[in-house]
Order: sequence, then C-alpha cells, then structure tokens
Amino acid sequence: MYCRIAVRLIAPLLIFLSVSAQPVYHEPYRPQIHFSPQTGWMNDPNGLVYVDGTYHMFFQYFPDSTVWGPMHWGHAVSKDLVHWKQLPIALYPDSIGYIFSGSAVVDESNTSGFGAGGKTPLVAIYTQHDPKGEKQGTNHFQNQSIAYSLDRGSSWTKFNRNPVLSNPGLKDFRDPKVNWYPEDKKWIMTLAAGDRILFYSSPDLKTWNKESEFGAGIGAHGGAWECPDLVPFTVEGKKIWLLIVNINPGGLQGGSGTQYFVGNFDGHQFSTTDTSTKWADYGTDDYAGITWSNTGSDKIFIGWMSNWQYGTRVPTTKWRSAMTIPRVLGLQKMNNKYYTTMRPVDALDKLVEKSTSYKHVSSIDNTPLTSGRARLEFTVDDLYAFSFVFSNAAGQYVTAGYSEEKNSFFIDRTHAGVSSFDPGFATIHYGSRISTSKNCRIIMVLDNTSLELFADDGLTTMTDIFFPDQPFTILQAGSSRKPVEDVKVSELSSIWP
Ligand code: FRU
Repeated sequence: MYCRIAVRLIAPLLIFLSVSAQPVYHEPYRPQIHFSPQTGWMNDPNGLVYVDGTYHMFFQYFPDSTVWGPMHWGHAVSKDLVHWKQLPIALYPDSIGYIFSGSAVVDESNTSGFGAGGKTPLVAIYTQHDPKGEKQGTNHFQNQSIAYSLDRGSSWTKFNRNPVLSNPGLKDFRDPKVNWYPEDKKWIMTLAAGDRILFYSSPDLKTWNKESEFGAGIGAHGGAWECPDLVPFTVEGKKIWLLIVNINPGGLQGGSGTQYFVGNFDGHQFSTTDTSTKWADYGTDDYAGITWSNTGSDKIFIGWMSNWQYGTRVPTTKWRSAMTIPRVLGLQKMNNKYYTTMRPVDALDKLVEKSTSYKHVSSIDNTPLTSGRARLEFTVDDLYAFSFVFSNAAGQYVTAGYSEEKNSFFIDRTHAGVSSFDPGFATIHYGSRISTSKNCRIIMVLDNTSLELFADDGLTTMTDIFFPDQPFTILQAGSSRKPVEDVKVSELSSIWP
C-alpha cells in the first residue's frame, strides 16, 4: 500500500522532471528554423528596427503564461535574420496600461530631443491598452505612448509625458507604425482604428496631428483592422506605396489574415484606384506582419505564424507561437495592377546542411529528410498539377502543391497531426495563382510544425502550421502529365544550440 502511495506521489514528479528535462528549444513541436520565445506567450512582431548591423525584433509577450495576458514587449536580436537571441523584456506594463503593438525608429536627426551625448536615440511608439477602462466600457482605453533608448535598444526609458496621442473616443485605436517622410521632413504614423486606417504626422514624435482616414468602402471588413504598415517602393522608376492592413477576424481563410492596398501617399493621404481586395498570404498562419525600419531600400517582412482562431489553444506546453521566416517583400506590376511578392531572406542559405538535386520527381519516393527541416526549390515549366507529401512514421502527413482545376496552390493539413484544439483546423487551404506566366518557380520551407510556400516569387505565398507527433521526415512527390524536373532539396540545420 505504501508502495502504491509512493508511486502515486512520485509519478507526477517524474512526468514533471521529464518535461522540464527536455532541453530548451528542443521540446516536442518546437520550431527549429523559426524564432519562438523560450517560454511564455507571444503574438505580433513589434518595434522592428535595424541598427548598426543588428535586427531588433520586439514582440507581444506575456512571460507568465502560455496564453495571452498583460502585454509586454519581449526582445530578440539577430545579425542575419535567421539566428536569434532572446534578450530581457524591453517594456513592462505600467499605470497607463499594457504595452500593445507598435514600431521603432532610428531618430537620426534627434527630432525628439531624446538624443544626449551625441547618441542617436531609438524611439519606440506603441499602444497602451488600459484594461480597467476597457472593463468599464469606456471608449478611450487605447492611447499611443513612446519610449527611447540611447544604448541601441538594450534599455528603454518611457517618455514622462505619455501618452503622446490620446484617444479621440474610438474603441479600437492602436498599433502605430511610424516612418520618416523625407519630402516634408516629418514622421507619419499609420494607425488602425476599427475598420479604418488613420494617418497622423509629427515633427518630433511627441505631438501628432491627424492627416486623413482610409478604408471606407474598400477591402475586407469582417473584423478589426490591426497592425498596418505603409511601405514605399520604386517600381519601374515610379514611387508606389503599399498599405498593409491586417484583419481579424475576417481573414481570407477565416480568423486572422493580411490584406493590402497599393496606391499613392502624398504626405497627407493614401489613395488608390485599385479597389480589389488582395491578400499577402493565402495560408492561415501569417498575421500582424510588418516590415523592419531603417533597412534602406530592402524591405523585410515578418509575421506572427499563428491565427487568433486557435493560437491560444495549440498543443505546445512551455511557450506558444513562432514567427514566420523573415521575407524579402517586393511589389510587382502585372496587367496594370501591383501585387506583393515575398521570398525567404537569403540568409536561409546559411542553414543548408546538404542539398540533393533530383532529376525528376518520380525519383523522389520515400526520400528521407533526416532532420524534418527542408527547403525545396524547383521550376515547373508550363505549369501543371503537382504535389509534395511530407510524412512521418506515424502515418501523418502534410501535402502541398498546385491544382490545375482550381488554378491554385494548396496546403492540405487534414492529416497532419493533432487538430482537436479547433474544429476548423484540419482543412485544405487554396491560394489563387496570380501570375499568368507559363513557368512557375516554387520555394517551400518545411519546419517541424510549419510549411511556407512561395510560388511565382511569392506572388502567391502560403503559410500553414500543424502539430504532428513526430517531424515529417519522409518526402514523396507526384505530378500530373509529366514529372517535375530538377527538384533541389536542401536539409536545414537548427538555428538553436
Ligand atoms: C493583433 C493585436 C493588436 C494588438 C495586440 C495585442 O494581433 O490584437 O491589434 O496591439 O495584438 O496583443
């Protein structure tokens, strides 16, 4: 009897020890080539800024739980956008509220006056969400605040006159993305408010004036507009502006999604003649994505690789969520319209352990992917139906390819492992082909719990997550009509020690 009691007492302890004995970053479901926090809850990327050779990524973070809670800004840094190091929390909630999403800029000419001793200030601009005001049913509980750093992002001082932009009486009033507008020597803030985007300007990041609104009668309106970004591009010698608008719910595949608009910004107002609704990613798991500031003409985008529809219920234990692979963002003109393009950053090459080129796909039959992490690259001449199946010994699999009938790319996660946490999770997602070229270049990036597909230079991009019992280490491929030629399969090393 004592023995049975002892077993009862010891068993939970043993389970606890075995879970905690798993080395950090190598637990079940832990992405190996994507950033995820060591522990705790993470959502949106925030404060993306490049300074002196370092990419800073702050993120919505609740360190005390694996579900959303009082938001902090977590902090991670990378020299190459592939290997990340998590640093101490940068911003803690305070008397004004939680620290919601926002951005960071290098205030080169010290417009804010925060610079001291010849040091250039970094300024973070973020939403403060007051949970008490929300509970009381007020309509002014989200306001914009700023903080600055004089040691390249290591430590932050909150401005003593926060908030700098007070709520005019809008329930949703958040996620400031700030950019320098050199033509008028002023800062432009792009802000989400309900299902509108508001533009504000400022000479010094401390005083803000409303310029205009955008969004009536255009785009998807099935949920709140969140985390916008206004990004200038030069296409065929012409300046074109991309306005990224995340939306939740009401995304293309249900839950969270990223729509965008392409047009002109004149320092006051964004306008467009293209009234179609466009999506930057046709999968389910790329949300709240924005670009790094201070990267010159290179535009680099990263998103939260999850979806509010089930993000708080996915079956990881010590942490929740990862970011997408950082992507080079572009704009391409096609039939007089502009579309976003995306491709994984070149630094992904650093992870290549070994590459094998298969003359044609019929020779890819139960090919082992030892690590369960791979990048596939190939071109389908005169595009026709094809599919790649990534599976494991437990009989689970994810399939990705192209359907000729639907003229769409697809990711099928119906048999990809645990899905009981959400009735809508185990589904197939289709992403319309936008390109009309004959040939189609494809890049797929597989990690333990995600697949990212970039077709036609990312004109159609898809990101899906899944939770197999073991990583997918077997590759099979098939195609209609004729075999796909020259498929390059690169196995990728883990970014974690
Ligand atoms: C988007 C979002 C933002 C908000 C943050 C809160 O995922 O809802 O609008 O600032 O998350 O964590």
